[in-house]
Amino acid sequence: MENVKSEELFERAKVSIPGGVNSPVRAFKDMNMAPPFIVSASGSKIYDEDGNEYIDYVGSYGPMILGHNIKLVGDKLKEQIDKSLSYGAPTRLEVDMAELIKEIVPSIEMIRMVNSGTEATMSAIRVARGYTGRNKIVKFAGNYHGHEDSLLVEAGSGALTQGVPSSSGVPKSVTKNTIVAEYNNMKSVKKIFLEYGDRIAAVIMEPVSGNMGVVPATQEFMDYVRKITKEYKSLLIIDEVMTGFRLALSCAQSLYKVEPDITCFGKIIGGGLPVGAYGGKREIMQCVSPVGPVYQAGTLSGNPLSMTAGLVTLRYLKDNPSVYAELERKGEKLQKGIEKAIEDFNIDATVNRVGSMMTLFFSKKKVMSYEDAKKCDTKMFAKYFKAMLNCGVYLPPAQFETFFISNSHSDKDIDKTIECARTALETVTS
Ligand SMILES: Cc1ncc(COP(=O)(O)O)c(C=O)c1O
Repeated sequence: MENVKSEELFERAKVSIPGGVNSPVRAFKDMNMAPPFIVSASGSKIYDEDGNEYIDYVGSYGPMILGHNIKLVGDKLKEQIDKSLSYGAPTRLEVDMAELIKEIVPSIEMIRMVNSGTEATMSAIRVARGYTGRNKIVKFAGNYHGHEDSLLVEAGSGALTQGVPSSSGVPKSVTKNTIVAEYNNMKSVKKIFLEYGDRIAAVIMEPVSGNMGVVPATQEFMDYVRKITKEYKSLLIIDEVMTGFRLALSCAQSLYKVEPDITCFGKIIGGGLPVGAYGGKREIMQCVSPVGPVYQAGTLSGNPLSMTAGLVTLRYLKDNPSVYAELERKGEKLQKGIEKAIEDFNIDATVNRVGSMMTLFFSKKKVMSYEDAKKCDTKMFAKYFKAMLNCGVYLPPAQFETFFISNSHSDKDIDKTIECARTALETVTS
């Protein structure tokens, strides 16, 4: 793998951009190398400045479920570009988007578009507080909901890798109403509700966490969280920024048969362009300005390009439900291939996967919580990551991230990835 031009660019970038990147995980901090600087991507492949081709399992951290440079999406975007980029006025595209999401996700009666997942969770929490008249929020250790101040407590992902579970610059007065519970631990939730129950506005959770690596909630845990939130008249906010339209057309909530009060979306609904959204019960969403007293706004919210790319992507998924069966088949094939290598070479590693989201943890024990994830051998992951990159497979550069499979990954891609994983696992652990 050549990396000269990327190295040069990274040196330049570090002079003008903090850490050389516009989002921390891209700096490859724990990998001890310059990140490849990307020039283009097509289908399942991504290409860097140094002329290397990789099979891409980052997929822009989730949005690219169809793969890169999809003609259907590009053609519609070109049509929209000819009609100008943004108006700051309502458009038919926004109505189409709201109606489509409502049709696909039954828990959504009204929805508001924003520009990122962070904005979606931040706004959902404000609405939950406004609606209930309560201040406290419960979140789970290792769940990441973006970089909103009050949620930057024991967050996963970038915050985890950087070793700063809570960020500096966030006053204690802001997080004093955030209570952290243990994921998949009903006792920890119960204890918090017994103490603070009538002051809790909402519980926010990732249904399948992708930000401490892939760690799914158990069905029992999900049912319990729904039950206790109802009992105490607190809202349940399900953060489907990553899982929404990825794990199933009607999102992870359909797999768990759970009806949240508010759902947050992002990533796939923008088809690769900046987006976020939050929606839920009509009575709750009618608290939002200009109908209700909870203020929330955005210059570029619902902008025509994001709506166009998102609509094409969602309509494709709706019209081609076999995509999900195929993602499951390819995910299972990749998982089995890697598990076989783990067994053959007797490695202390385990794979977690739900549909097209997957993580290889260097841990002997099954990973079910943030505590389990933190015990993984991250140094071994770094070695594995580099070996995979050298073999032409581009994985997320951290143990606590998710590999995403797209509709563009072919069986040939999966076979090659398994072959690389076998070699990588054998060499890095010997
Ligand atoms: C579950 C979840 N919520 C919220 C966010 C924040 O989204 P964004 O990065 O678009 O602000 C992310 C980002 O990865 C996420 O995975």
